[in-house]
Amino acid sequence: MSLPIRKLIYWLSLVLCASAADVQWPVNGGPDNIRYSPLTQISPANVNRLQVAWTFDSHDAFKDSEMQSNPIVVEGILYATTPKLRVVAVNAETGREVWNFDPNNGQAPTRRYRHRGVTVYKDRVFFTHRNFLWALDRKTGKPIEAFGDNGRIDLRQGLGRPAENMTVSASTPGVIFEDMIIMGSTVPETLPGSPGHIRAFDANTGKLRWIFHTIPQPGEFGYNTWPKDAWKISGGANAWAGLSVDSKLGMVFAATGSASFDFYGANRIGDNLFADCVLALDAHTGKRVWHFQAIKHDVWDYDFPAAPSLVTVTRNGRKVEAVAQITKTGFVYVLDRRTGDPLFPIEYRKVPPSPVDGEKLSETQPYPVKPPPFTRQIITEDMLTTRTPEAHAGALAAFRKLNSKGIFFPPTVQGTLIFPGVDGGGEWGGAAFDPETALLYVNSNEMPWIARLVARDEKSAYKSNCASCHREDLKGTPPTFPSLVDIGQRLSRQEIAAIVRQGSGRMPGFASLGNPAITDIVDFLLTGKDSAGDPKRAAQDPNWLKYRTDGEVIFLDPDGYPAISPPWGTLNAIDLNQGEIRWKIPFGEFPELAAKGLKNTGSDNYGGPVVTASGLLFIGATNFDKKFHAYDKLTGKLLWEAELPAAGNATPSIYEINGREFVVIVCGGGKNGAPSGGSIVAFALPL
Ligand code: HEC
Repeated sequence: MSLPIRKLIYWLSLVLCASAADVQWPVNGGPDNIRYSPLTQISPANVNRLQVAWTFDSHDAFKDSEMQSNPIVVEGILYATTPKLRVVAVNAETGREVWNFDPNNGQAPTRRYRHRGVTVYKDRVFFTHRNFLWALDRKTGKPIEAFGDNGRIDLRQGLGRPAENMTVSASTPGVIFEDMIIMGSTVPETLPGSPGHIRAFDANTGKLRWIFHTIPQPGEFGYNTWPKDAWKISGGANAWAGLSVDSKLGMVFAATGSASFDFYGANRIGDNLFADCVLALDAHTGKRVWHFQAIKHDVWDYDFPAAPSLVTVTRNGRKVEAVAQITKTGFVYVLDRRTGDPLFPIEYRKVPPSPVDGEKLSETQPYPVKPPPFTRQIITEDMLTTRTPEAHAGALAAFRKLNSKGIFFPPTVQGTLIFPGVDGGGEWGGAAFDPETALLYVNSNEMPWIARLVARDEKSAYKSNCASCHREDLKGTPPTFPSLVDIGQRLSRQEIAAIVRQGSGRMPGFASLGNPAITDIVDFLLTGKDSAGDPKRAAQDPNWLKYRTDGEVIFLDPDGYPAISPPWGTLNAIDLNQGEIRWKIPFGEFPELAAKGLKNTGSDNYGGPVVTASGLLFIGATNFDKKFHAYDKLTGKLLWEAELPAAGNATPSIYEINGREFVVIVCGGGKNGAPSGGSIVAFALPL
């Protein structure tokens, strides 16, 4: 279509109010959670003329903040959350703010949120802020008083344990089935734990309609895959990456995370159902229809990183409704949607036992025969970086001290390389699926992480991390290094933990210590008791474990780049009919390396793709080059890219208003040291 004609149609449509034909982006991940757009105005032939149509800046970015919404677009309004977790409603055609809602009571949050947006249902917008699920009026942004307690319910309640001991939120928005909002949750990956039960609430009143115990209780299926009392104290097995609904079948699908504590499971011997499961539930009742467990007794933090994609594939000439599940390990599972039967064979293979005291791993783990994994799964010496001779030498020296024995060798005291890493493989951006070609698009990180266990009684986390500045006697050297004596009278447990995680002023952040160590340190500051030195604690405290990790760290070379050879990130198209990888390209770059000629290395990337009927694959995600890319969906050829204000660590949405197609992405950055941002950018063809 030539430009003037399109312009004419655009203005005509405005005059004629043709908004009935608008195409919305109604739910997180798009319908069926397949990140597919039927729109065709933007096509491979014209994508190189794409321009910024509007930019909305929330002005909410702060150091290390993130912003990860998949924006929802309904009736011309776009809904998303900001780095400070305000909800904004923005005119999706112009980028002008309609309303905003701030749940922070005027207090600027100091901690960063990972939050993937909102749920729109009829007259309301649901969103989570810390432990609350809010219902806001879609027109005004005001809390709906009839919902729960003046517009919100407390997700810590109703889990069968004292609410004040629970830590529950939800990074991914809930899904709607009939008049219910169904929620997964985000819970600590350490102990004391909170259970990841899946719940349906009445969307009008907030009342609980059903609950599915992902950590089964006495008498329930799966109870015998845990120690007898684990259901009272264990945590995790939570669907943090969200849910998918098949309204026609009346089923809701979840993909759960690991049980806590993530890296050592001596107090949860057994397979630990329903951790690391694809779960199919009856959406009316919450009853289990089927489940498939991908990791038995997980000690790697191999959470399922994304909710199941509801796909239709062709088998023996017949269409089969299925779910496709991506993983952090690089496997894709394709399962019959009604029964859970695998559509490609799954073999249970013998895996190594654990050399760690008290640990007992499953003897076998499931391996799908097809499709092949979309990442490398083991690091060998010949794969170490050759970027410079010094980098290679540094990587080699570190590598030789670590275990690198494949995806099912556990974390050890010596240190184990987890590869693909704790952040995937596949990730929370989710996969896109093209119903026309049955291609599944998956972006992936290929960065090894080091998981090392530290015996708690070996060293005090306070002495080894904090005493250098605050001194062993806590008195510090004021004014340079403040005294921490009686710190509990000035700061709450949460505030201290937040300072330790994020740092403050000249104090560095210690998030990489991991939560168990941080909990030990905060306990020590508040009680004076260094749990590391108390051997009796194990007997009294069911949450006490012999080991913690010394942080989760990416295996880097001495200059801070991944210590293995590229690609460090990839984009993959996987044919789900044949179970084959159709194309695979390195994805992302480090601009400073590219400037020196080291291009196309791939890099860390977070956030998902969207595929269009017109033949395009849109994705931001790449962490350091901040680019937004459009590829030919059939070949992986790059057709267009633009630089965003900050990395687009989010999944784009595609919609049409008044005959004009928009592609929108939030630009939050803030991952792995990249700069943070707080804006939303919409692209369209010039009028
Ligand atoms: C490199 C030196 C250094 C190290 C190591 C360090 N801190 Fe700090 N810490 C500081 C400085 C400097 C401040 C004051 C920060 C400011 O002015 O905002 C501070 C402040 C604090 C505060 C707030 C004190 C108050 O009165 O508001 C706490 C709590 C704290 N540190 C705990 C810790 C803990 C726990 C560790 C170990 C995990 C630790 N720090 C490690 C330098 C350090």
